[in-house]
Amino acid sequence: MMDWTDRHCRYFHRLLSKETLLYTEMVTAPALVRGGALHLLDFAPEEHPVALQLGGSDPSELAQATKFGADAGYDEINLNVGCPSDRVQSGTFGAVLMKTPELVADCVKAMQDASDVEVTVKCRLGVDDQDAHAVLPHFLETVSATGITRFTIHARKAWLKGLSPKENRDIPPLDYPLVHKMKADFAHLHISINGGINSLEEAMPHLEQGLDGVMIGRAAYHDPAQVLLHADSRVYGKDDQSSAEAAVHDMLPYIEAHLQSGGKLHQVTRHMLGLFTGKPGARAWRRVLSQGASRPGAGPELLLEALSHISQSHPDQAAE
Ligand SMILES: Cc1cc2nc3c(=O)[nH]c(=O)nc-3n(C[C@H](O)[C@H](O)[C@H](O)COP(=O)(O)O)c2cc1C
Repeated sequence: MMDWTDRHCRYFHRLLSKETLLYTEMVTAPALVRGGALHLLDFAPEEHPVALQLGGSDPSELAQATKFGADAGYDEINLNVGCPSDRVQSGTFGAVLMKTPELVADCVKAMQDASDVEVTVKCRLGVDDQDAHAVLPHFLETVSATGITRFTIHARKAWLKGLSPKENRDIPPLDYPLVHKMKADFAHLHISINGGINSLEEAMPHLEQGLDGVMIGRAAYHDPAQVLLHADSRVYGKDDQSSAEAAVHDMLPYIEAHLQSGGKLHQVTRHMLGLFTGKPGARAWRRVLSQGASRPGAGPELLLEALSHISQSHPDQAAE
């Protein structure tokens, strides 16, 4: 998610769950290929498994960008066919590509030929007045003819005119049954559902009913403990790795290194504000971090001060 799932966010989320697949912000192929902005691909080895999401619609440019991503070590390269923003539309990529599945297939083919890393697609149900029940199966059929097998479907259309990107994440109605129907009709494809799923509890029924994955966006960002801390056991049948408190302590060396390389504390802690959402002391945690992290000289001790409010409210958990 743009401006949210940067490398600091992903490093932090990885401390809460070892198994879940994390995605980068969308990086545009032109930024990498024409702009030479290869620093956008930097990530820490601890983030694996991590998918790079690319935006673009020029097959040769996407192929070059895919090669850069593969060389950087990403586990998956995902093509964005869901973003409705004006800026993206003017570059003819994102959700507007739902209108041209043949072009998406050309892009995917070029991306596949560029490296051995798996290429996947994130798409919408359709755009504007398209009939999603006709458009989506045609899209999946056309694009999967390239040989790719993994799709994440944001279960609402994008309305390209008249709605802001934010409104396009809430206003077009969700249609989960259509995504489940696609899994029934294309059983050989790995299909993940996305959109409006707010917790592990809400995610589990989608998996139990046959979908292959659930992508959680905003809820994972705003309430990461609730979504990620028990995902390893509930979804993957593995041991859970951590607790929210332990993750704070585990962030300290990372933050220290970030500060020493000239970074600012708030660049990391802004992603951690929601860690104790719904827990006693959460407001104080958020207040201490949001007020203190931008002050000159602010360092890791601010996290311990913020955490003390949680510990005071939660004497049992503090000992975990
Ligand atoms: C701030 C923000 C930035 C986003 N950036 C991207 C992006 O770069 N690529 C993408 O595919 N989706 C992006 N999205 C959309 C989410 O991935 C997701 O499809 C959408 O929020 C619906 O899922 P959710 O209800 O679980 O959040 C973004 C969403 C938000 C809130």
